[in-house]
Amino acid sequence: MTERRTAPEDITAAVVSSFDGSHDARLREVMQSLVRHLHAFATDVRLTQDEWEAAVRMLTDTGHITDDRRQEFVLWSDALGVSMLVDALANPLPAGATESTVLGPFYVAGSPLREYGANIAEEAAGTPAWIYGRVRSIDGTPIAGAELDVWQNGDNRLYAVQDPEAPEDHLRGRFLSREDGTYGFLAVRPVPYTIPHDGPVGHMLEATGRHPWRPAHIHMIVRAPGFRTLTTHVFDEESDFLQSDAVFAVKPSLLRRFVTHSADDPETPAGVTGEWVSAENDVVLVPRAPD
Ligand code: BEZ
Ligand code: FE
Repeated sequence: MTERRTAPEDITAAVVSSFDGSHDARLREVMQSLVRHLHAFATDVRLTQDEWEAAVRMLTDTGHITDDRRQEFVLWSDALGVSMLVDALANPLPAGATESTVLGPFYVAGSPLREYGANIAEEAAGTPAWIYGRVRSIDGTPIAGAELDVWQNGDNRLYAVQDPEAPEDHLRGRFLSREDGTYGFLAVRPVPYTIPHDGPVGHMLEATGRHPWRPAHIHMIVRAPGFRTLTTHVFDEESDFLQSDAVFAVKPSLLRRFVTHSADDPETPAGVTGEWVSAENDVVLVPRAPD
């Protein structure tokens, strides 16, 4: 009698069933599905030994380049669209609510609380941009006292955390909406920039003919008591790379028109001398479900 050979499917089945005894049902579901998909992927592409070794090297390099300031694992998740997918699956929003998008690696908590209309640019950083709008609930009610935590890059393409020359609080700040839900602050017109691409993610982008650029945007986290916290962007609808964002974070509903104004426009914000732009950006929040 000839002995039965071990087939690839037998290996997959053995690993899947090794989790049958897990006491945590969710952990069992996640691990068994992970193994099924991982094995299906390796089988599908007929993964070679050399490719397996390259993957191990890539993961090792990802660990080595990651520290308190650089998170290459999250960058993989961003560049492969997993961050956007998880957000979409975990935080579905009803129609009419402002859509969410990625947080990104350049958020720094504890930005200064600034007055209505204040300038977040602590030094020259590009064309002044008046960003304004109203924060309201999905039913239309204005939300007073909502906190808009904003950060962006300047015309050197850098966020303050990336730029050792920049003041610590440059191009970031927290603002509160007024009684009628309105908010406004002075920023600069954001510019496209590249995600960090001097590490393993950059190698993947290069090897696959993808580029590392993101379209111009301003980041916002909007928090209000009783409402779900929203992490989003204000995209400049005229920016390059809207169709090919390196991290798949563009949602058409988040595109805003940046209107150009001359210096003699009567609405010119205090302190602005040359040409400036404005963008209206209403924010619609969803009430938090009761616990
Ligand atoms: C950002 O928009 O700041 C960002 C998002 C994901 C990866 C890199 C940068
Ligand atoms: Fe960004």
